[in-house]
Amino acid sequence: MTRWLVTGGAGYIGAHVAEALLASGRDVVVLDDLSSGHRAFVPDGAELVEGSLLDRAALDRALAGDVAGVVHLAGYKYAGESVRRPLHAYRQNVTATVELLEAMRDADVRRIVFSSSAGVYGTPDVDRVTESTATAPESPYGETKLVGEWLLADERAAAALEGRAFASVALRYFNVIGSGSDRIRDTSPHNLVPKVLAVLAEGRTPQINGDDYPTPDGTNVRDYVHVADVALAHVAAAERLERGEPLEPVYNLGSGAGASNLELMRAIAAATGIDFTPGIAPRRAGDPASIVADGTLAARDLDWRMRHTIDAMVASAWSAAQAASA
Ligand SMILES: NC(=O)c1ccc[n+]([C@@H]2O[C@H](COP(=O)([O-])OP(=O)(O)OC[C@H]3O[C@@H](n4cnc5c(N)ncnc54)[C@H](O)[C@@H]3O)[C@@H](O)[C@H]2O)c1
Repeated sequence: MTRWLVTGGAGYIGAHVAEALLASGRDVVVLDDLSSGHRAFVPDGAELVEGSLLDRAALDRALAGDVAGVVHLAGYKYAGESVRRPLHAYRQNVTATVELLEAMRDADVRRIVFSSSAGVYGTPDVDRVTESTATAPESPYGETKLVGEWLLADERAAAALEGRAFASVALRYFNVIGSGSDRIRDTSPHNLVPKVLAVLAEGRTPQINGDDYPTPDGTNVRDYVHVADVALAHVAAAERLERGEPLEPVYNLGSGAGASNLELMRAIAAATGIDFTPGIAPRRAGDPASIVADGTLAARDLDWRMRHTIDAMVASAWSAAQAASA
């Protein structure tokens, strides 16, 4: 049985990844400082090392015991907030990744799957974002994810020069929503679905920013993917790295189809049974009309496919939110 370290495994996506790795028959150790994660999200059967990536002793403890590879999800993920806290974003996402790569090298851990983000593309001027679409991050957060990808590429090159085994892959997630089980949910105060559910719970009417964009219904189009599908792509990546099979350096985890804000609101109304018509607020500066990703490469190599409809994604988010407030 191989053992994988999941950094950020007490977080929303990381806990789903930890669960999927356990279900695949692997052992899991989680390293998490619980800054935005929750102890209760760590699945039964996974060991939790409570500590920060910035604490070398904690990292060494997490990497002890023949770890086959690392899924690195820990980080500071609030793109909007990162504009106000760039140094914090860089410390949590870049310095922490340097610390992790150093500790991995010293412990002879040779494989890493890295959580990157659609944020590396900024505002792409194409109908479908592919992995070769130019990167142009527009927030410190997006920059830190791109630097993370560069660190992996540089470390791969250095390892090749030294004749040392090291393999990595970066997965660029688009808009991750839903829950694989009622035990784990997105608790971010900034992500769209939990924000809308919180507004509804307070009896207020959710707002859409702008309805005059050049999209079919005038509202922004985004690419939503289910967190459990995202988690399975990590297991496929881990498997390929274990087998020493080649992977691209980066993959988009996007659906190939978008949903508009209005469509998402309708799905939320259907799931919650709350009949509401969203208010229309002014456009927000910097919001691109539409971002849809091409997931063809991930479908080819990482068993990536949409196993859930938008309605099912939203219904699972609502179910987990209900379970938490019960
Ligand atoms: N949610 C999305 O739609 C989305 C999209 C693109 C990329 N991502 C990336 O996916 C990853 C996971 O996101 P999430 O939505 O699960 O966020 P999350 O905040 O729920 O999870 C992050 C986890 O990392 C932990 N953590 C943060 N800093 C740490 C540190 N220094 N040491 C140890 N643990 C630390 C937190 O406590 C938390 O459990 C992040 O790297 C994020 O940037 C998320």
